Amino acid sequence: MTSRKLLLLPGDGIGPEAMTEVRKLIDFMNNELQAGFEIEEGVVGGAAYDAHGQAISEEDMAKAMAADAVLFGAVGGPKWDSVPYDVRPEAGLLRLRKDMELFANLRPAICYPALAEASSLKPDVVEGLDILIVRELTGGVYFGEPKEIIDLGNGQKRGIDTQIYDTYEIERIAGVAFELARNRRNKVTSMEKRNVMKSGVLWNEVVTNTHKERYSDVELDHMLADAGGMQLVRWPKQFDVIVTDNLFGDMLSDVAAMLTGSLGMLPSASLGAPDGKTGKRKALYEPVHGSAPDIAGKGMANPIAMIASFAMCLKYSFDMVTEADRLEAAIANVLDRGIRTSDIASGDMTTVSTGQMGDEIVKEFRALS
Ligand code: NAI
Ligand code: MG
Repeated sequence: MTSRKLLLLPGDGIGPEAMTEVRKLIDFMNNELQAGFEIEEGVVGGAAYDAHGQAISEEDMAKAMAADAVLFGAVGGPKWDSVPYDVRPEAGLLRLRKDMELFANLRPAICYPALAEASSLKPDVVEGLDILIVRELTGGVYFGEPKEIIDLGNGQKRGIDTQIYDTYEIERIAGVAFELARNRRNKVTSMEKRNVMKSGVLWNEVVTNTHKERYSDVELDHMLADAGGMQLVRWPKQFDVIVTDNLFGDMLSDVAAMLTGSLGMLPSASLGAPDGKTGKRKALYEPVHGSAPDIAGKGMANPIAMIASFAMCLKYSFDMVTEADRLEAAIANVLDRGIRTSDIASGDMTTVSTGQMGDEIVKEFRALS
């Protein structure tokens, strides 16, 4: 059997509470489905700073590099607000992204039928929505040099950020988008601003060439990113996979996320390049939300974002598509039965705790397995 090495990094705040619920699923899959996950645990974020003064230890970094996939909870909280910049909790996540070269950030926006009423858009606009935003994560204007504020000496200052994309960076993110589309509805929409940005002209050209050379079986559209934002809220179901740069992807994925409701529902994946020998991609899966210090320790956290991140892990790192689909179906069924944590409850619905939500999803997953 292929190896299934998983590193769990629960982190801070509600991170460990959500991870406990994923652990129940892993235990079920190991004990009853002989899934053979080899689990390691590590410490990250504020918890790691408290333990040894660093946001992640070299030992845990080595475990992450050796794992087939990393499940990450959340980091940070007021307790660490004044620790030095280099060892602040977020530095652990940034180090993981950098060392694992996680250049592709996948943010699905899925609207569970039971929650369509909760969207800020009309239910028929979002019901059944299932789109995937693929955002370039390691290049572009967040990293390009020069990046500085210059004092012009005349009472004025100048702030500079630089958008840079090289061919290989665009090729590899486009490749991820086309490959994912093949297992979905086979359609990619590339978004940039070629009308006003040189990097947008190159982006458009490289995506077009990559498509022609390797993925001509997939349908490809181009859209200006601002128009794309408009279309996302007008009729999001026209999209399947959207591929875009770091900056536009940051904004468009947040817009898409809110089409479908609470932060407590939103998973994500970050993928690296395939390994030269095994062809396996390095990968980290995490909920979109943070450590939610306001509700930490109260058993109120919605574990679905973390559980749905694990479903993405099954699909993208372990090729366990059937199990991933079942887990997503289990989540949908539990929501259909009106089971809600307080963040997604409306009106006078009764609510359940983090642990009860996890138990219900395991029960439903078992019934479907
Ligand atoms: P947050 O996502 O932690 O919380 C925002 C709001 O959403 C809070 O009211 C929270 O209670 C609620 N919420 C979030 N996840 C929830 C869940 N699963 N179930 C129910 N309610 C949920 O963002 P915030 O408050 O801005 O940041 C808190 C801390 O988390 C900060 O230290 C921040 O730096 C860190 N953070 C870490 C991230 C990461 O580890 N990737 C991402 C975002 C923030
Ligand atoms: Mg953002």
